[in-house]
Amino acid sequence: MNDLDSLVTQAQDLFASCTTPAELENAKALFLGKAGRITEFMKGLAQLDIEAKKTQGAVINAAKQAIEAALTQRRQALADAELDAQLKAEALDVTLPSTLRAAGGLHPVSLSLERIENIFTSMGFEVAQGPEIETDWFNFTALNTPEDHPARSMHDTFYIEGGHLLRTHTSPMQIRHAMAHVQQYQSRIDAGQGMPEIRVIAPGRTYRVDSDATHSPMFHQCEGLWIGENISFKDLKVVFTDFCKTFFENDDLVLRFRPSFFPFTEPSAEIDIQFPSGPLAGRWLEVAGSGQVHPNVVRNMGLDPEHYIGFAFGMGPDRLTMLRYGVNDLRLFFDGDLRFLSQFQ
Ligand code: PHE
Repeated sequence: MNDLDSLVTQAQDLFASCTTPAELENAKALFLGKAGRITEFMKGLAQLDIEAKKTQGAVINAAKQAIEAALTQRRQALADAELDAQLKAEALDVTLPSTLRAAGGLHPVSLSLERIENIFTSMGFEVAQGPEIETDWFNFTALNTPEDHPARSMHDTFYIEGGHLLRTHTSPMQIRHAMAHVQQYQSRIDAGQGMPEIRVIAPGRTYRVDSDATHSPMFHQCEGLWIGENISFKDLKVVFTDFCKTFFENDDLVLRFRPSFFPFTEPSAEIDIQFPSGPLAGRWLEVAGSGQVHPNVVRNMGLDPEHYIGFAFGMGPDRLTMLRYGVNDLRLFFDGDLRFLSQFQ
């Protein structure tokens, strides 16, 4: 191998060992620069005669071209490698799960409340909201449940200093809403012109010292109240039956009004429903308490019980939600587990 052949090999080896473009440019200078090895060979031509100049010049040129080719090739290889590394570093893994948050949705009980409100609104009921922290008077006394009444023990709750408590039912809203209504129409009532009927539902959170698969210390109720001059138990049956059939989208649903006791209604009934088919077929399921509003309660609303009469009911939207979706543990609604909750979207 002559000197030039080995020079080409040297250049190729050195270029191949360069790992950065800067290193490669330095290596290039050793061979192709002004003081490089090729230039040295060129200078050597001066001593040769014309024929030898020709042949040696051609050999040098060939070596120079081979070195340049090796350089170009290595430059390209380094540039490719750099691009590859960059692509890898900045690569988007399109198979990674997205960090976008899924769209939120309504809680199953909220879905039920929305449904209840829509159905009753379509029947001409207003929707009212009231405080969850109540006074003893609104929660019990005004509802014909004086301090020593045994019915209070079924409504053990969370008492707050200063005579306040967390409401044990939405029934205080019967009094609050009726009082506001009466106040609004007081002059008409006083003038013997009567008042528009009270027709309202009041959904919301309620509290009791209770906790098991079908009871939670916080739960929901929806109160209903219809007071007029001639509103009877028959109206209660029609309204509530219509509501249940619409809510469960089942015209064959059967309702039973089972005699019961509440201090604030007389007569009183617990309302049970029965599905004609499906997993719950044949069982009576309690969904509400109800009755004709007690005369003492009508009086506490600011109305004359000789002129005004009507019905009230209090139902459990949590229970209705369990029945509608076939959920067997009430506590699942309040655990906040998205695996459970997302099934209702
Ligand atoms: N407030 C009663 C309860 O929580 C239910 C009810 C409401 C009964 C209205 C009659 C009339 O048990």
